[in-house]
Amino acid sequence: MTSFDRIYRQRTSRIPWHSGAPDVELIDVVRRGIVPIGRALDVGCGQGTESVFLALMGFRTTGIDLSARAIGKARRLARLLGARPTLRVASVLDLPLRRASFDFVNDRGCFHSLAPSDRSTYLREVARVLAPRGRLLLRAFSTRAPRDSRPHRFTRPALRTLLAERFVVQWIRLVPLLSAAGPPAIPVWACLARAR
Ligand SMILES: C[S@@+](CC[C@H](N)C(=O)[O-])C[C@H]1O[C@@H](n2cnc3c(N)ncnc32)[C@H](O)[C@@H]1O
Repeated sequence: MTSFDRIYRQRTSRIPWHSGAPDVELIDVVRRGIVPIGRALDVGCGQGTESVFLALMGFRTTGIDLSARAIGKARRLARLLGARPTLRVASVLDLPLRRASFDFVNDRGCFHSLAPSDRSTYLREVARVLAPRGRLLLRAFSTRAPRDSRPHRFTRPALRTLLAERFVVQWIRLVPLLSAAGPPAIPVWACLARAR
């Protein structure tokens, strides 16, 4: 059982990062066609809010998460809303997926959960499964978030430098991460990057 599994034991509405709706930044890149409808992978998809949104928007969507409990909840949400993403227990550090098999990778809060020593592996894996010029939309804690925002926070230049290992960073914006569970919105970086 992962430490996340323990958190996912709680009622969905009490999970600290549960907002109940896709982030505005994700809606925006889809609505404006910046990320065209295609094959989407949601890494660390949790309870499936954004995987289900992508599937309902017409993306052929796969959501993966290390937590079996989260994937169980994501499957229930998908059934409830009549969406058909593929939802699997897997690690983003060793994706059981073919190279160049996605046009878009979505990440809300997975990259910032990883140990610093795993970041290069994450970037290699995400770059491997993305088609050439595929996009990555990432949300990760900013250093402007409260100090107890766990586990990792980034400055804008640090995030840009990390991503530049495998991606061309298109923009990084400070946005509020909303939570239905009640804590005030936390400042996070939303970042759109393109595979090289
Ligand atoms: C902050 S939560 C965000 C969940 C979801 N994206 C959301 O916005 O509700 C981070 C998620 O990343 C998952 N995670 C952490 N390490 C992972 C890994 N190596 N591979 C896949 N998922 C991982 C956790 O289980 C957790 O569900």
